Amino acid sequence: MSKTKKIMIKEINGKFQYPIIIGGKIILQINSFIESHIKNKKVFVIYDNYFDLKKNNNFLYFLNQSISIIANEVKLISIKSRDKNKNLKTLSFLINKILKYNVERNSVIITFGGGVIGDIGGFVSSILLRGLNYIQIPTTLLAQVDSSVGGKTGINTPQGKNLVGTFYQPKCVIIDTKILKTLPKRELYAGFAEVIKYSLIMDKNFYNYLVINYNKILNLKEPYIDYIIHKSCQIKSKIVSEDEKEDGIRAILNLGHTFAHAFESELGYKSDLIHGEAVAIGICMAYRLSRKLGICKNSEVEKVENLILKYKLPTKINQIKTISLKRKNIFKKLFSDKKVKEGKLTFILSSGIGKAIIKNDINENTILSFLEEEINE
Ligand code: GLY
Repeated sequence: MSKTKKIMIKEINGKFQYPIIIGGKIILQINSFIESHIKNKKVFVIYDNYFDLKKNNNFLYFLNQSISIIANEVKLISIKSRDKNKNLKTLSFLINKILKYNVERNSVIITFGGGVIGDIGGFVSSILLRGLNYIQIPTTLLAQVDSSVGGKTGINTPQGKNLVGTFYQPKCVIIDTKILKTLPKRELYAGFAEVIKYSLIMDKNFYNYLVINYNKILNLKEPYIDYIIHKSCQIKSKIVSEDEKEDGIRAILNLGHTFAHAFESELGYKSDLIHGEAVAIGICMAYRLSRKLGICKNSEVEKVENLILKYKLPTKINQIKTISLKRKNIFKKLFSDKKVKEGKLTFILSSGIGKAIIKNDINENTILSFLEEEINE
């Protein structure tokens, strides 16, 4: 069993603080981390229906067995994990189900699944009875390093990704790195896009680590996999503790996301392009756009593309052969992004590895000509 690590995320003005606990097989000791939150309470576990509760050897089974000893009552609710299900219909299903079970003000929600489960579970926690305590147990790499930390909750709408939601912090994040062994490979690789993002926005040494150790990391070898999860959560915690509501520095966590969200939304959140893959393409596009604007050298762009390829992710939207896109639709979608301010698009660009730049004065014609280079029609 690997050593358990703890990161405390502390908002700089004292508004919130909570632990992120990381380790292998820590689900087996779950009560020692969350007892004070769930003891004698009604607990709702919202989980990904990918986990089979009837099988007695999986992580969900252990979670249920353990918390049932100390909670007053445990109700399990499964939902589908795809982004196309992160919508009003699923939200309304969850609200009805939890209200029918007579939720109480001190009830607790536990989310057990990937980013979709965490985002929608966090959202429902923030609005039911004007806010219930919740605990995130992310089971995908993407959720472990990104969406479970920092309190962004929400759902998608046809207009765009995550346009309805709240900032609502969990009481605790529990990351069991051994769960990753049960992940389909495609889901695992998609998570590396967010890990790579952290290195590119502020940590060149971390980038070097990802380059040198990619084979061991891809094969989930310890201590490499634990290290990259810990490092990613450390970087994210630092940023979120300084800027919870994305008034400034937090925006750099959106490297690659402006293009990614436009593609995902335009494709109706189809599984031909899952979130991490869209982010991988978006990151490469952010670097290529930086090169077009003359702020980043070609050699840096190539390094980024090579790293993305090493982690078995796409670098260009044209590599996804099962989809077809219209440039003008993607251009329009860019404007329904949350980061549009006074009609101007915000892009996170880069002058090189480890350096992010927030830019909101790019000419629309430059974007249009860039999309011509990127999207074959
Ligand atoms: N996923 C970006 C953020 O949490 O701000």
